[in-house]
Amino acid sequence: MRVRLLELELENFTEHRSQTIKYGRITRLSGRNGAGKTSIGTAPVWVLWGIDLNGKKWSPKPTTYDADVTRAAVLLDIDGKSIKLERGIENGKNTFRINDVPAKATEFESTINNLFDRDEFLSLYNPRYFFGLHWTMQREMILRHTTPPAKSEVLKHLPEPQAVKLDELTRKHSLSDLEKIHRDRKNRLEKEHIAAQSRTRTLQDQLLTMDSAPDVTGAQEDIAKIDATIAEIEEAMRGHELTNQRIVTLQHRINSLLQQRDRMKEQFKAINDEPIADTCRVCKQPLQGEAVESAKADKERRIAEFRAEYDRVVAERKAAEAELAGLEYIDVSEKLAELRRWQEARQAIVDAVRAKERREQLERDVEVAREAEKKTLAGLNESIIIIDAIKAYRAKEAELQAEKVQGLFRRLTIRLHKELKNGEIEPDFSIQMDGKDYAQLSFGEQTEAGLELSEVLFGQSELITPVFVDHISEYTGPIAVYDQLITAGAVRDQELKIETEAWAD
Ligand SMILES: Nc1ncnc2c1ncn2[C@@H]1O[C@H](COP(=O)(O)OP(=O)(O)O)[C@@H](O)[C@H]1O
Ligand SMILES: [Mg+2]
Repeated sequence: MRVRLLELELENFTEHRSQTIKYGRITRLSGRNGAGKTSIGTAPVWVLWGIDLNGKKWSPKPTTYDADVTRAAVLLDIDGKSIKLERGIENGKNTFRINDVPAKATEFESTINNLFDRDEFLSLYNPRYFFGLHWTMQREMILRHTTPPAKSEVLKHLPEPQAVKLDELTRKHSLSDLEKIHRDRKNRLEKEHIAAQSRTRTLQDQLLTMDSAPDVTGAQEDIAKIDATIAEIEEAMRGHELTNQRIVTLQHRINSLLQQRDRMKEQFKAINDEPIADTCRVCKQPLQGEAVESAKADKERRIAEFRAEYDRVVAERKAAEAELAGLEYIDVSEKLAELRRWQEARQAIVDAVRAKERREQLERDVEVAREAEKKTLAGLNESIIIIDAIKAYRAKEAELQAEKVQGLFRRLTIRLHKELKNGEIEPDFSIQMDGKDYAQLSFGEQTEAGLELSEVLFGQSELITPVFVDHISEYTGPIAVYDQLITAGAVRDQELKIETEAWAD
């Protein structure tokens, strides 16, 4: 977009009661101090935004004489189309006109906002304006139209392992996301690594205090042998116990049979001495021969029965005595002690096996802890390498960008970054001419710096504006007229004079 100033009308604008200026390709304002040159230079930006050349709110309302109306109207040519914009202060109120048609403040503002960016316009129109901006804004304006170096371009300059790694990783994540991920991971793994180290140490200490592993070769066979021996002993003891029980049972039986025999001897005498009855137990008549015989026979039969029972008791006892004579009581306390000894031996082997298992488990735990520690360290190192690679990338990117931007300037030196103590690169901005800061330059040198800067901005931006160089007599360098130039210079004892050079076409 090309903007040209065609005409300016001022009414009660500072010291200008009524003034019309027709601009040319070059418009030279000259005159004594206070002739109104700067006011004319300021008027277009006041119309557009109500500000002065430095971007500050400003009022041109006269203070030395009374005026109901202050007004400035500027006729612009924008890409060949003209537009007349007017701002006024009428009885303390702001008024606006677009092509002589009254407009509301919001309508006027949006019309202008749609045309151009205020900071960009002012930076081009007033070569001093840029240097009054905050450095972040200055930086943003310088970089606005320079494309940052491409990823592949930056990677080309990095050491191969870093380039390969970043190339792969930045396919999935942006560089800043990648940095966030690995900063977070680094913090986490640093803590984890300390914890893993302490776990390994604790387990190793435990291992040191543990007895060395006992030799348990052949333990299972030994246990099997002992188990067989124990089974044998228990089996033998079971046989002995049965015999011992039998002996006790037989002794009891013999005793009871002896007592029974003695009792029967008594009873036999009583049966034997029993008289044979000679009277009928029913009719009390004396028994006759046959009946007496029968009573005798009855007694004999009962005696015979008794004797048979007696013989059986005696025979049973004799049999028991004979069996008892064949049995031998065996003392098992010896065997019991032997059994206990074997059981203890067995337990000792089992304990040794368990101790060895515990030690082996601990050794495995130590190994696992060492592996975990190694893995954590590897992850940590990986993140550190990536963070360093990102740092290197940023530094290289900044360097390449700085080279690119610096290439646009002749005498000015631009710095876009600063390096922090930890080596990180941070956006920053400074501009110098011949190694001197802007503030240190003389007024004329500042004009020179401003003109070089606006030249670069013109080269980059899509906006072309007039350039207003105030105090031109302070400046002795060349001026490249980009499209339209307005200069103002002091001339002793001279009223305001406006000279123009027309466009060739
Ligand atoms: N708002 C204002 N009202 C009245 N006079 C002003 C106002 N602002 C500036 N002036 C005066 O207008 C005159 C012209 O100023 P200026 O345009 O800066 O002159 P020059 O740049 O030619 O020296 C000066 O005398 C200045 O003091
Ligand atoms: Mg002036």
